[in-house]
Amino acid sequence: MKLLVTGGAGFIGSNFIHYILKKHENWEVINLDALTYAGNLENLKSLENDSRHQFIRGDICDAKLVNGLVKECDAIVHFAAESHVDRSILDPAAFIKTNIVGTYTLLEAARQNGGKRFHHISTDEVFGSLNSDEPAFSEETAYDPQSPYSAAKASSDHLVRAYFHTFNLPITISNCSNNYGPFHFPEKLIPLAITNLMEDKKIPVYGDGLQIRDWLFVEDHCEAIDLILEKGELGETYCIGGNSEKTNLEVVKEILAILKKDEDLIEFVKDRAGHDRRYAIDATKIKKQLGWQPRVSFEEGLAQTIKWFEQNQNWWQKIKSGEYQKYYEKQYKN
Ligand code: NAD
Ligand code: TYD
Repeated sequence: MKLLVTGGAGFIGSNFIHYILKKHENWEVINLDALTYAGNLENLKSLENDSRHQFIRGDICDAKLVNGLVKECDAIVHFAAESHVDRSILDPAAFIKTNIVGTYTLLEAARQNGGKRFHHISTDEVFGSLNSDEPAFSEETAYDPQSPYSAAKASSDHLVRAYFHTFNLPITISNCSNNYGPFHFPEKLIPLAITNLMEDKKIPVYGDGLQIRDWLFVEDHCEAIDLILEKGELGETYCIGGNSEKTNLEVVKEILAILKKDEDLIEFVKDRAGHDRRYAIDATKIKKQLGWQPRVSFEEGLAQTIKWFEQNQNWWQKIKSGEYQKYYEKQYKN
């Protein structure tokens, strides 16, 4: 099996490549990534001498490039996206381009090359926001995206489904809850909190901190994607969640406790515009159909993640100082 993985230098994509090459000895991966601020080849450093991994720096909106790569592969696993809600509030343009036009470009290439197997990675955020007493999101929940990020992801999901119905493209979609783990870019809540505390800085908590997310350890997500790719029913959507709803304050307090820091380091700041109150996933379908459920509890996963950030200070310090940007510009200036 030769996979084209898009966005494989980002957080989940790089974890997925490590997972898949460890699990399937004879699989190969072509990794197409534009190396935006979120892409980092250091996430893939241990694969430098592994001939099964080929890295291509390029944009998923580049139809000619994408077409050539799709031709070479058996299946596409599509992670590449602009992924941070706060950035989508500041500047939505890149989200429209990458998340919608980029997905369309890949779908067209898959269609024009004999109908390649296409797995699309999406998010629970397309379903909008839940009240505390509402049931968790499932595959039946109507789309109701609230941010430019989730609206662009929702658009891409609709396009993927349209290519199944109209062109019989063999697609699957997964909508996953918030991930955390190694290589998580330190602008997101968990890695930001961990690294700020390691730098003796405060943790910014938006609004009252009582918003709820359903946290999933990234390796569990990778396992679910692998299962869907191999055994998922074509045309189907699978919701993936951690069964681990926590308020942001609970998350931050657990991190403070593990790092033995004082709660004075919590700083309540202005709320995010249009901040979704609660996300939660009902993952019954993937459990019943494919036998998947999360293996790692939040407590275990968080302890493992904190350990990883302790052991990889160089990785996140470079990112936080912006140094890695200069490094890759130098490496790739040709
Ligand atoms: P990330 O921001 O860490 O990584 C995105 C990667 O895509 C980066 O390596 C970036 O360089 C690359 N990229 C961006 N624009 C590109 C373009 N035009 N062409 C080629 N490459 C481009 O994101 P992530 O957190 O790893 O998320 C990966 C996917 O999973 C996204 O589709 C996201 O919507 C989805 N998702 C994320 C979460 C989460 O908690 N992080 C949860 C559910 C779903
Ligand atoms: P984030 O990690 O950005 O993921 P998402 O917005 O995709 O769920 O944020 C997780 C939650 O943490 C969300 O409710 C926003 C909140 N948050 C803070 O309170 N402070 C922060 O500095 C960040 C980045 C997020």
